Amino acid sequence: MSAKLISGTEIREEILAEIDAEVKEIKAKHGVVPGLATILVGESPASISYVTLKIQTAHRLGFKEIQDNQSDDISTEDLLKLIDQYNNDDSIHGILVQLPLPDQIDEKKILNAIDPDKDVDGFHPVNVGRLMIGGSEVKFPPCTPAGIQEMIIRAGVETSGAEVVVVGRSNIVGKPIANMMFQKGEGANSTVTVVHTRTKDLAGHCKRADILIVAAGVPGLVKPEWIKPGACVIDVGVNRIGEKISEKTGKKIAILSGDVDFDAAKEIAGSITPVPGGVGPMTITMLMKNTLKSLKFKLGII
Ligand code: GUN
Repeated sequence: MSAKLISGTEIREEILAEIDAEVKEIKAKHGVVPGLATILVGESPASISYVTLKIQTAHRLGFKEIQDNQSDDISTEDLLKLIDQYNNDDSIHGILVQLPLPDQIDEKKILNAIDPDKDVDGFHPVNVGRLMIGGSEVKFPPCTPAGIQEMIIRAGVETSGAEVVVVGRSNIVGKPIANMMFQKGEGANSTVTVVHTRTKDLAGHCKRADILIVAAGVPGLVKPEWIKPGACVIDVGVNRIGEKISEKTGKKIAILSGDVDFDAAKEIAGSITPVPGGVGPMTITMLMKNTLKSLKFKLGII
């Protein structure tokens, strides 16, 4: 393997240790801890597994955590009342409604009802606007893009003046990461191209990338010959391509594959994230960082 492996699992531990130290310091000085409320509607196994991980991580860091499970027939009105309750709860600094929501729920109404100053997911239009303005306006960068930028910084990859190509234009990853990479600031100042399903020469654009960020949700979309030798490759794809029995637990688990052909790409790239163990662990880590940040804003210490 020629490429340096950028391990989200290792970077997660570094960041969680930093958060842990800050939480202890704030608790000693101010007598408060960050509070996170997670609302889960229904029983989708993937959502349950994400929420469980979020709650476990919050617990490990000494946060106050509330897991609020609601049945999948809850109405938009009742969910709005619940959000209002957490908006007005002084011990809660972050509110997260796990997506996707059942069809009868007006998702836009729900996301817009969360107090932008408790919106640690960074999905509220106010926070999307703050991200677009950039600099000190940004309160809560969305967690997956924030995790990607943190990995690039901690891997020591030069971003200033770099050609960044983002594959995918979703609201959760493609649009925000493209925006973050061209802003002024650390881990940014790049020249950014966004490519998508209607792009004419996908391969040609990818070949120019010093930093290639792939969030298309198509297993193996990016071919090894599309990668510029020495490039940094960030694979955001988490595609379930089958099932296997876990050696650790004996239970059935999903076989995951990224959007990049990892085995071939690692022979060409300068650095690369694996799947699993790359971007995945960073999302929850940055959610914890945003929740801590929310408390720090409230205390006026940032
Ligand atoms: N579902 C999948 N990813 C996410 C996320 O980052 N935040 C929320 N709220 N729901 C999700």
